[in-house]
Amino acid sequence: MPRTRTTKKLAQRIDLNYFQKPRPFRRWRFWLSVTAPVAAMVWLGWHGLRGDPRVYSAGQLSRAHAVFANKCSACHVMRAGLFTEKTSDSACLACHDGAIHHASQTFTPSCGSCHADHRGAIRLAEVSEESCTQCHANLETRDGPAHYFTHIRSFNGDHPEFAVLRSGQPERGTIKVNHYLHLQPNLTGPNGRVQLVCADCHRPAADAQPWRFGSGIASAAIAPAASNESAGRPPSFTQASPAAYMAPATYAQTCSGCHLLTFDKRFSEQVPHDTPQKIHTFVVAKFQAYIAAHPSELRELRNPGRDLPEKPVPADYRVLTPTQWVAEHTAQAEDLLWRKTCKQCHTLNFSPEAASAPNNPAPLPAIAPSNFTTRYMPDAKFDHSQHRLVSCESCHVATRTSQQTADILLPGIATCRACHNTGTQAAESRCFECHTYHDPGQRKFAPGQFALPDLLQSMTLNRTETPADGL
Ligand code: HEC
Ligand code: HEC
Ligand code: HEC
Ligand code: HEC
Ligand code: HEC
Ligand code: HEC
Ligand code: HEC
Ligand code: HEC
Ligand code: HEC
Ligand code: HEC
Repeated sequence: MPRTRTTKKLAQRIDLNYFQKPRPFRRWRFWLSVTAPVAAMVWLGWHGLRGDPRVYSAGQLSRAHAVFANKCSACHVMRAGLFTEKTSDSACLACHDGAIHHASQTFTPSCGSCHADHRGAIRLAEVSEESCTQCHANLETRDGPAHYFTHIRSFNGDHPEFAVLRSGQPERGTIKVNHYLHLQPNLTGPNGRVQLVCADCHRPAADAQPWRFGSGIASAAIAPAASNESAGRPPSFTQASPAAYMAPATYAQTCSGCHLLTFDKRFSEQVPHDTPQKIHTFVVAKFQAYIAAHPSELRELRNPGRDLPEKPVPADYRVLTPTQWVAEHTAQAEDLLWRKTCKQCHTLNFSPEAASAPNNPAPLPAIAPSNFTTRYMPDAKFDHSQHRLVSCESCHVATRTSQQTADILLPGIATCRACHNTGTQAAESRCFECHTYHDPGQRKFAPGQFALPDLLQSMTLNRTETPADGL
């Protein structure tokens, strides 16, 4: 019998009341749609009753601010009974200083636009590149032309070469230094041949190891040398981490073991490494004491050179007063010091104005200030201790061949870009890594504004509920 399948029969197979019958999936859907909002309301209400507003938050706060997680009003002000989405600068300034960047900037971005919060446990100070390039891609100033390069969008793109290498200005320091000669493998040291290394002369101020070729005691008169730090914008040589920059090399610590300041064969002692006036006083005192102890030396052979054995000449003696003797020997010793010993490292000025008191037996020269540069890149930060794995000479490439003080031995931007680049393997290359935004010279201490009980309460809340529980 043939199967007859009419449309009617087929239609009868469809249960027209299917939606009225309970089905497991639909039952679940129903109960979920009822309970979820109720649970959410209860949860919100419960937190609301407890005065915990974190549930409305846009995301976990940064680590530094995590303690304020239930204190939205610390950053968001109330407007018409509701918290504003944007934070107000005055709220941040209640706890922070937030010093200005530059007096000449044309506008001031809000704190929250750079330090965007609710992005998890990040460091807020790691601001995006855009927060800098919004101005630096096309820099404008309020007053007159900009002092700096005006089109910078990224470190690996159009960031300029560092000024010290761009300018072609020679090094300003006056101490003569010949790196090539001192880095020879067989340099004459105090006890035979030596090979100097960079750390024999260059170390961060924090380093307390004894110096290999230092012997003398630093003179108080020779204070830490002048520097060309700019008006203190970035962390200065003295403000920065004590391991960040190399301290200027001093005679006492780095040269004195090899370059002696002896002044006369009668004495094994050396003159102090000090000003010509102090040295003069020292030398005069030494000769005075000596001649008082050795009066027989006042009787001197006038011309010892003519005393040849083949043609004996009657000895020609002269007898000096102690004052004459001291003056003559001081003049001889000082001539050697100024014109040879000191001159090897220093520039001396013998002009009459430079000479000191008029009643000096010998006019004393002036020593040119050493003018060490302590910051070569004062508009950026640098930290040697963060680059310990890299050899000195891979950044200071030209050192071993440099024979002149005037040579600039600093790395250019290409050296930094080898590591500070984009990509997951690279070191950080956003602007904040090397620059400060808030002018350190404008910083001031911001006193606390919050009562301890308030803070303790928010901290307790924070500890009992881990951030992972849905916030
Ligand atoms: C330590 C300061 C701070 C606290 C406390 C804080 N916020 Fe924020 N919040 C910010 C900052 C910064 C932004 C970024 C917006 C801006 O100001 O430009 C922001 C943005 C927001 C936004 C907008 C989200 C977006 O993506 O634009 C919401 C919503 C918000 N916060 C809610 C909250 C709630 C709710 C709380 C309390 C539980 C809270 N915030 C506590 C600093 C804070
Ligand atoms: C109730 C006080 C308080 C308020 C309000 C506050 N902060 Fe903080 N902030 C702190 C404390 C405490 C720290 C941690 C100590 C420190 O670094 O000074 C901190 C740290 C920071 C840091 C450095 C830490 C990091 O992660 O890099 C930045 C940047 C910062 N806050 C920006 C802001 C901004 C922007 C606002 C306004 C939206 C703001 N803060 C509002 C108290 C506050
Ligand atoms: C609101 C605009 C503005 C923003 C945003 C801005 N700058 Fe500047 N910046 C300036 C102005 C203006 C100068 C000074 C120009 C002049 O005097 O010639 C300047 C100068 C500088 C200098 C020159 C050296 C110095 O220390 O003064 C550096 C470096 C610098 N900014 C880095 C940054 C970094 C990094 C950021 C981001 C965190 C940033 N700037 C964000 C406007 C801005
Ligand atoms: C005998 C001591 C001595 C040794 C060894 C020595 N230096 Fe120097 N160096 C100096 C003196 C002195 C100066 C000038 C003043 C200063 O900045 O300390 C100087 C200056 C510098 C400067 C800054 C000056 C410029 O124009 O760029 C750099 C960089 C430098 N040295 C790197 C090195 C490196 C790298 C080594 C090892 C390969 C080294 N030096 C070994 C004594 C030395
Ligand atoms: C081997 C090299 C060397 C010799 C030789 C030398 N000095 Fe120096 N002198 C230095 C160095 C390096 C400094 C830098 C500062 C320090 O040592 O504390 C310096 C600094 C000075 C200063 C301070 C300059 C300033 O910046 O104001 C005076 C003054 C000075 N020396 C005097 C002398 C006199 C005088 C002699 C000779 C008796 C002499 N020095 C011999 C290397 C030398
Ligand atoms: C390990 C021993 C040693 C140390 C340390 C040393 N020197 Fe020398 N220096 C020498 C020798 C050796 C000479 C070559 C012989 C000479 O002229 O006395 C020399 C020569 C010089 C010259 C003459 C260079 C030339 O081109 O003719 C100067 C300038 C000089 N040293 C400066 C310094 C200064 C500044 C320091 C400390 C920062 C220093 N030296 C540390 C051993 C040393
Ligand atoms: C990653 C590159 C890099 C390495 C590696 C490096 N330097 Fe430097 N060095 C610099 C830069 C950049 C400056 C300029 C810092 C400034 O003065 O603003 C500098 C400055 C200096 C100065 C001048 C004084 C100062 O600190 O500003 C001396 C001296 C110096 N370096 C010696 C050394 C020695 C010694 C080593 C090895 C222990 C070394 N450097 C390793 C990059 C480097
Ligand atoms: C890896 C380190 C590093 C990074 C990243 C970096 N800079 Fe620099 N920047 C420097 C150094 C070093 C100088 C030279 C400072 C000096 O000459 O005193 C400099 C100089 C500058 C100057 C002064 C330029 C001039 O006229 O000489 C400005 C402006 C500047 N940087 C802005 C930026 C901005 C904006 C960014 C981010 C897009 C950035 N920098 C990223 C290291 C860096
Ligand atoms: C061999 C790779 C390498 C080279 C070359 C290099 N850096 Fe770095 N630098 C690093 C690493 C790695 C760090 C630390 C990790 C990080 O911040 O990503 C760092 C950190 C820094 C910091 C941050 C220091 C701090 O206070 O935390 C500055 C500023 C910096 N570098 C500047 C420079 C400059 C300027 C040059 C070029 C003269 C340079 N670096 C060359 C690898 C390098
Ligand atoms: C153009 C971006 C930008 C703006 C706008 C900005 N900051 Fe910063 N802020 C930075 C950068 C970059 C740092 C990293 C260190 C530095 O530059 O001093 C920082 C660091 C900080 C720190 C940490 C300081 C420290 O010593 O570690 C605090 C706190 C801070 N800012 C607060 C503020 C406050 C408050 C405001 C608003 C008045 C503000 N910032 C506006 C970029 C900005």
